[in-house]
Amino acid sequence: MSCNCSQGSENKELFNELGEFISSLPEQNESSLIQVLHRAQHIFGYLPREVQTYVAQKLNIPVARVYGVVSFYSYFTDTPRGEYVVQVCMGTGCFVKGSGKVLEAFEKSLNLKSGETSDDLKFTLSGVRCVGACGLAPVVIINEKVYGHVQSEDVESIIENHLVETLS
Ligand code: FES
Repeated sequence: MSCNCSQGSENKELFNELGEFISSLPEQNESSLIQVLHRAQHIFGYLPREVQTYVAQKLNIPVARVYGVVSFYSYFTDTPRGEYVVQVCMGTGCFVKGSGKVLEAFEKSLNLKSGETSDDLKFTLSGVRCVGACGLAPVVIINEKVYGHVQSEDVESIIENHLVETLS
């Protein structure tokens, strides 16, 4: 049988970190749920079922309530995300300026469909609702960096330049 000891202890540390954060809050109840989920996703990178259960226990609320919030907000995810999260705005302002073609170009270039993460956990691709930068339409966000006026023919160079910039 293989041992997962180091992964287990690393996980325990992450749960401890989350537990300490929850204890530091003025209230440990449903009013802190969104704040706790933000921190949990920051710590774990995503919100697997055991993290949602842990949060529910700590805040003394039903797991179904936590699950409902996680599924409602597109910001939260219960599946692992890639190191690079590529978001293509599909809001009306961007769509009319060609973001559908931009998303297709990313799908082709990364060999992923919208909503998928690569097996090596390097990229996640998603089409998202308006990100509030309509003046720059069509907009693409990779992690924190915003790219404006993106056309499908820019996609290859955006990926290459982004990787070069973040690796240097
Ligand atoms: S529609 Fe894309 S930023 Fe608003």
